[in-house]
Amino acid sequence: MKEWTFENFQKLIASLKIKLPSFDLPKLTIGNKTAPIAIVQGGMGVGISLSSLSSAVANQGGIGIIAANGIGMIEPDYFKDGRAANIKGLRSEIRKAKAQSAGIIGVNIMVALEDFQELLKTAIEEKVDAVFLGAGLPIKNLPVAQLREAGVQVVPIVSSARATNLIFSMWKRIYHDVPDAVVVEGPKAGGHLGVAQADLEDDAFSLETVVPQVKEALAPYVEEFGKPIPLIAGGGIFTGEDIYKIMKLGADGVQMGTRFAATDECDADIRFKEAIVACSQEDIGIIKSPVGLPGRAIINDFLTSTTERKRNFSCPWQCLAGCQAEESNYCISMALNNARKGNLKSGFVFVGSNAHRVSAITSVGELIHELRQEYAAALFADKKTIFTEVAELAARLKHEYKVTEQRARELKDSYLQALANGPIPDTIASAKAELKVVNARLSHIQHAITEKLSEVFQDGSQQTANF
Ligand SMILES: Cc1cc2nc3c(=O)[nH]c(=O)nc-3n(C[C@H](O)[C@H](O)[C@H](O)COP(=O)(O)O)c2cc1C
Repeated sequence: MKEWTFENFQKLIASLKIKLPSFDLPKLTIGNKTAPIAIVQGGMGVGISLSSLSSAVANQGGIGIIAANGIGMIEPDYFKDGRAANIKGLRSEIRKAKAQSAGIIGVNIMVALEDFQELLKTAIEEKVDAVFLGAGLPIKNLPVAQLREAGVQVVPIVSSARATNLIFSMWKRIYHDVPDAVVVEGPKAGGHLGVAQADLEDDAFSLETVVPQVKEALAPYVEEFGKPIPLIAGGGIFTGEDIYKIMKLGADGVQMGTRFAATDECDADIRFKEAIVACSQEDIGIIKSPVGLPGRAIINDFLTSTTERKRNFSCPWQCLAGCQAEESNYCISMALNNARKGNLKSGFVFVGSNAHRVSAITSVGELIHELRQEYAAALFADKKTIFTEVAELAARLKHEYKVTEQRARELKDSYLQALANGPIPDTIASAKAELKVVNARLSHIQHAITEKLSEVFQDGSQQTANF
């Protein structure tokens, strides 16, 4: 039996003038906002995902996210007044992103930030599409009424079904409302991790284990509040095939960080991106961040030397509640800001566990195109048996189709000629009758193949991305 590739299969079906159902990435709807493709670019502080990256992703149909933490460091007056600079920086990046894209733009805010409330207020005032709230549980003191009024969707970032339950049950009790989607971040993610270092390799905490558990935890809220609550899975998602696989486990979309960090449009210095391309698997490790959480990064001299000797630094302001900078010998905001500017002697690069697989810096458009192709190929490979049956049937019918199509053309010509030569009723009537039969045979062939194809898409899960 012939090995069918997706491309050959597509060509064969097209030659029979049959429209294939979409093999493309599905859409992602959060509240009243729909992104044409179910890819969220994860928020990356300090200054890694700003207006350039987020608007590029939104323009390609995904959800672009500006990271709010340490955003004021791009402003000249951060060291005079960090709080004010953060607000100014966030406001101006949101405005820039919105000016550059009509797509969906969100803001990522860490709950543990000292100025969490002010940053959230700024995101509401600027009417971003959604806020993604992680590094802590977004439960208490949330301006839910204002968020609703401004149409800002709320998306907590969690690493377990337990955290999901806690957030949703407390929201229900306090606000008589629930969040609009959830990001489930697994242990392979870049940046700060919601899983303890000892559990990172434990299958019980893997993304593949936790996604179905969170899906189950969300089910009663979907039912009670009568709205879909999409689950977005992230951490180590690298290819379109990874996207396909995690969606099969119940995810409605994915969040990706590292791959977007190595794009032309990413807001960091080229040396930051080159460090990702250059890193090997052995270079990627876990650090104990001053924030009090484990974090995954490219281990460089800066990190190893900070763990070995005391360093002099002065804290610009206590930007993180509970920061243990003195113990870690460095300020994480300053270190990440240095990395953003390409100064890796005084900073380091957060990455996901698959960063060593990044082989080049590409544009966001190229990356998304590649992911879509890979997703389609993975869908094709997964349903290979049935697609092979369809292809065999189509190949068998192709000859008959061609012959019949040719006959239809001839009949049409002779019919038109007979009409032009004046009415010769018999010729016209017999040509018309035969054309009818021939056309019926063509549609029969098409119908047989479409029927077979519909077996694959019978669950209706394949929504099309139509742009
Ligand atoms: C450089 C970098 C910075 C990050 N900064 C943040 C952040 O500020 N807030 C946050 O919630 N997640 C942060 N993340 C996590 C990403 O949003 C995303 O969830 C994660 O990178 C997904 O894993 P992946 O990198 O394997 O795709 C960061 C990740 C990276 C690589």
